[in-house]
Amino acid sequence: MTSPLFRTKNVEQSILDTEEPEHALKKSLSALDLTVFGVGVIIGTGIFVLTGTVAKNNAGPAVALAFVVAGVVCALAALCYAEFASTVPVAGSAYTFSYASLGELPAWIIGWDLVLEFALGTAVVAVGWSGYIQSLMGNAGWEMPEVLGSRQGADGFGFDILAAVLVLLLTVILVLGMKLSARVTSVVVAIKVTVVLVVIVAGAFFVTADNYDPFVPKAQPVEADQSLDAPLIQLMFGWAPSNFGVMGIFTAASVVFFAFIGFDIVATAAEETRNPQRDMPRGILGSLFICTALYVAVSIVVTGMQHYSELSVDAPLADAFKATGHPWFAGFISFGAAVGLTTVCMILLLGQTRVFFAMSRDGLLPRFFSRVHPRFKTPHRPTILLGVVIAVLAGFTPLEELAALVNIGTLFAFVVVAISVIILRRTRPDLHRSFRTPWVPFLPILSVAASLWLMLNLPAETWVRFAIWMAIGFVVYFAYSRGHSRLARGEETKPGEVFKPSGPDSR
Ligand code: ALA
Repeated sequence: MTSPLFRTKNVEQSILDTEEPEHALKKSLSALDLTVFGVGVIIGTGIFVLTGTVAKNNAGPAVALAFVVAGVVCALAALCYAEFASTVPVAGSAYTFSYASLGELPAWIIGWDLVLEFALGTAVVAVGWSGYIQSLMGNAGWEMPEVLGSRQGADGFGFDILAAVLVLLLTVILVLGMKLSARVTSVVVAIKVTVVLVVIVAGAFFVTADNYDPFVPKAQPVEADQSLDAPLIQLMFGWAPSNFGVMGIFTAASVVFFAFIGFDIVATAAEETRNPQRDMPRGILGSLFICTALYVAVSIVVTGMQHYSELSVDAPLADAFKATGHPWFAGFISFGAAVGLTTVCMILLLGQTRVFFAMSRDGLLPRFFSRVHPRFKTPHRPTILLGVVIAVLAGFTPLEELAALVNIGTLFAFVVVAISVIILRRTRPDLHRSFRTPWVPFLPILSVAASLWLMLNLPAETWVRFAIWMAIGFVVYFAYSRGHSRLARGEETKPGEVFKPSGPDSR
């Protein structure tokens, strides 16, 4: 690969760059911090909101199996992420990994893709949070004016002010410092996990066995007129689009996949980890395992409490308790969900700013964004810029379709990471890997196939939107990034050398 588009940034260089004083992040996180961090971002809208929707529309009680399918796909990807994160402990996650292995253009593509995943993911969760807060306010008899409560006010104009305010508040917290946000996170994660455990333990007493019959409802055809809404795989093979049945489980898996998004973000904090070689794999795999177990348990309990066809789509966990005559539990769960979603939102925003930071440090985005704050040592500039953009997005955009777009972007990143593991093993067999993905290349290939399979189960429309976003990315790369890349300009940092900003993009 001699073309400049495939120039790779060597791994030692990536690590060296993190040591430039003006561009370095504080190393303060432990394996436990990372696991808390992972659980903090993983458990969110997926389990609190999407469980009801997919049980009702796609899978019935078999939504538990959909969580298993999505969990397996993520575990395969996690094993690949863990190798890369422990080998290349640099901010930027899959972006950095692919810069080190596949080359600049693929790295750009993945970075651009991660921007989509994290930015829209933050917006989606902020909107879900706003829904829970409004439902709690509703319990107390307060209603938001329609124009400030949703995207569809009385005259068709609406701005979800709560979602936007949440994103802005979290932006301020992140600018003030990583350690502060980790501390806030642990308290909130404790509340969230408690709520999930309460759902499982208390809910188990209200399960009715009849609700599990049938566990996998028979496949039902859906109207043919919404062709772009159908999963791409059904259109590709000319199948009659259907819900439920075995295919319904896969459709559901491609949606509840959203519930697992976040473990990859643990990898983005590698640079802020004290001992990344040891702690990253523990943090990533540990948080993923805990969440999968909780999801399966919650979905079994909830579909046992209420027949799947009657589950609510806005607050299924809380409403299942209401339906069984336990409103006190419902209030408690809504409160926990609202509190829990704040950390999800914050960590997605954090992951987002770190990817942007890494791309900027490499010169693919203006270097202006990669100067850390002199006092707080945080990348305040991308944090503020992205926080404001996402707040506006969260205020205006509806979430269902955005969630699918987030999923396709993430799955695409999984594919690239799995391929990169194989390539880096060949091109840099000498690198120290404190965690090695087992059964290479078999496992990464399986991971690619599994991720592609879930992608194909997403609606055709989602594929179109994804293609448009990526096309814009190509334009930006060829118009700006290719010429400004530090690698292209030969601006590599030597050991002991401090980076001196130069040129109009560095201030
Ligand atoms: N996994 C996160 C959620 O479910 C993004 O909200």
